[in-house]
Order: sequence, then C-alpha cells, then structure tokens
Amino acid sequence: MQPADPVTSLLVELFDQAGTRPPERVAVLDDAGGAITAALLERGLTSSTWCDDLRSELLVPEANRAATPAEAVTGATTVLWRLPRALGALDEYAQLIATHADQAVQVVAGERNKHLNRSMNDVLGRHFTTVHASLGRRKARALLASGPRATTASWPRSARIDGLALDVVAHGATFSTNRLDRGTALLAGCIDEMPASGRAVDLGCGSGILAALLARRGLRVSAVDVAWSATDATRLTAAANGVTVEVERRNGLEGWNEPIELVVSNPPFHVGRAKDTSPTRELFAQAGRLLVPGGELWCVYNSHLPYLAWLRESVGPTKIVARDRSYLVTRSRRSGQR
Ligand SMILES: C[S@@+](CC[C@H](N)C(=O)[O-])C[C@H]1O[C@@H](n2cnc3c(N)ncnc32)[C@H](O)[C@@H]1O
Repeated sequence: MQPADPVTSLLVELFDQAGTRPPERVAVLDDAGGAITAALLERGLTSSTWCDDLRSELLVPEANRAATPAEAVTGATTVLWRLPRALGALDEYAQLIATHADQAVQVVAGERNKHLNRSMNDVLGRHFTTVHASLGRRKARALLASGPRATTASWPRSARIDGLALDVVAHGATFSTNRLDRGTALLAGCIDEMPASGRAVDLGCGSGILAALLARRGLRVSAVDVAWSATDATRLTAAANGVTVEVERRNGLEGWNEPIELVVSNPPFHVGRAKDTSPTRELFAQAGRLLVPGGELWCVYNSHLPYLAWLRESVGPTKIVARDRSYLVTRSRRSGQR
C-alpha cells in the first residue's frame, strides 16, 4: 500500500527502488503520522524512528521509538527523513548522521518542491561529499546524500543575551534557536509585573528563556513543550544559568492536574510547516481550566491574530499591557470559582 502523503510515498518508493543492503539498519527522522515507519513494518523492516514532536512520536509503535536523534541514526545504513523547516535543524541532524551513521549511509531526505531551496543542498554539502536531487514525483522531491564528512559537533549552541543577562542554549530545531525572538523580548520586558510567588508554567517553552527568567524571580517553575528540541534546550538553558526549572515534554497541559498561579506563553502559530492556530485555542482553554481563581495568563502574540476574544472566553478579563509594531502582550485573569 502506498501512503497518501506525497513526501512519505516518495521516500518509501526511493527506498524500495534502492533495495535493501543487508545488514540494513534504517533510521527515520521526523515521521509525521508514523507513516514511513508503518510502511517499513509492512515490508518486514524495523526502523529506529525519531520524532521531535511528541504528537508524531505517539503515532510510532513504542518498539520503534529512539530516545534521542543521535540514538536513531547510530549505525544507520539508510536514513529516511522528512526535511525540517529550519536550516539549523537540517544542519544539526545532518551532523548527527555524518558522525554516528554507518560510513556507507544513504540519506534520502524529502519535501514538497515548494519547500525545497538551494540552501538545503548547501547545508547537506557541509556534511556529505555527494548531494543530488531525485526526480520529482507528485510535486515532491528528495535530496540524496552520501559520503559522511568528519566535522566537529556544533549543536546544541549557546549564546549570551546581554539585555536579559542570560545564557541561552538551543538545538537547531528549537524555536528561534539561541536568539531572542521579538515577541519573547516584549513579554520578557513585563516579567517584573507578573505574580512573584506560587507555581508558574512556561507553556511552549522553546529554549526556556521565559522559564529561566521566572525561576530567577523565585517562582516554582515548570516548562512544557511538545518538542524535544525545546525541552532539552530548556534543561540546558536552566543549567547554564544556575536556576531550577521542572521540564516536561507534553502536549500543552494535557493530563496536568495541579493548580497553577501563573501561565506565561508565546504560543505557537504553526503545526509543522502549516500555519494553524487551533492548538493555541486549546492551550488557552487548558490554562483557563487550571489557573486558580485570580491566577494569570500572560501571553504575547502577533496583533492580527484573534486571540483577545479567545482569551476573554477561555480565561477571563483580559487587558493589553504592552505592544509594539507587530506584537501585543496581554494579561488575562481567571475569574470565578474553580
Ligand atoms: C512561538 S514558540 C515560543 C518558544 C519560547 N517560549 C520563546 O518565547 O522563545 C512556541 C513553542 O510552543 C511549542 N508548542 C507548539 N505546540 C505545542 C503544544 N501543543 N504543547 C506544548 N508546546 C507546544 C513549540 O514547540 C514552540 O517551542
């Protein structure tokens, strides 16, 4: 059976054409929906699959899940990979493959034509001696790379953010890597106005900038993100700044049952490559359910997004407390009895 998604079906087709080379060891990277892993299982092959996003990982059979991207590619003879959006993620994964996979590894990295660009070939070319494009099928194409080059590991990367007196550590796939996003900066500028005691949650923590600032303020801080590249980065950022943050890879606040005094969020507006704000609506609803009466949700977002109405509906009275040309910072207070 051919998978419906053109990128997945191209990767599987190219794998079938190449034929297996025993002892074949297949790694799969960022298997949206678990479809590549499932197609390999149908062929009697067991892959070691890595998904940065927990929602994708949960669709992969437990026996196939790798604990880290490095573990997934260690000893791999073939890597089937859906190309990531961020060039940093491409660079980090390519470096891991070149360092840990078999010397004879064949990398088959696919995407829809509209998302492919020359920079992707250049990044792969830093880590492999041969890179070329496959023929296109159903508006998708793969970059084929082989001949790993020896390079020095350069991820995760750290940078000092002088304005916040903070060292930020990030993976290539972490939102904004180790740089300070403008929206995050606007929200960080409001930290001193937020409640200073109780349990705070950085919801969608990315590199952990907001979590580290809250922990420094003396709150008991949890940081939650659905992406491993974010939760691992947040752990590293907290350690680099000598603060304590409880970090969890989790889909929003699903399954959370402790009351919360403060939620801080620069919420997502993408799922994978697609612009999609529906998960954000659910994050607000979860925050509204879990905040103690009088508890606050502080949020930053692009001013054209319809979040003000959602925040009022899901949490309670909401005020705009800061703004710039593009972003708004809002404070929503949980009203009523729990
Ligand atoms: C705009 S980024 C903000 C990151 C960080 N707080 C900052 O300000 O730099 C949004 C983050 O939300 C995470 N995210 C997306 N959907 C999520 C979900 N359902 N549950 C938890 N985190 C999610 C993304 O992985 C990303 O790290």
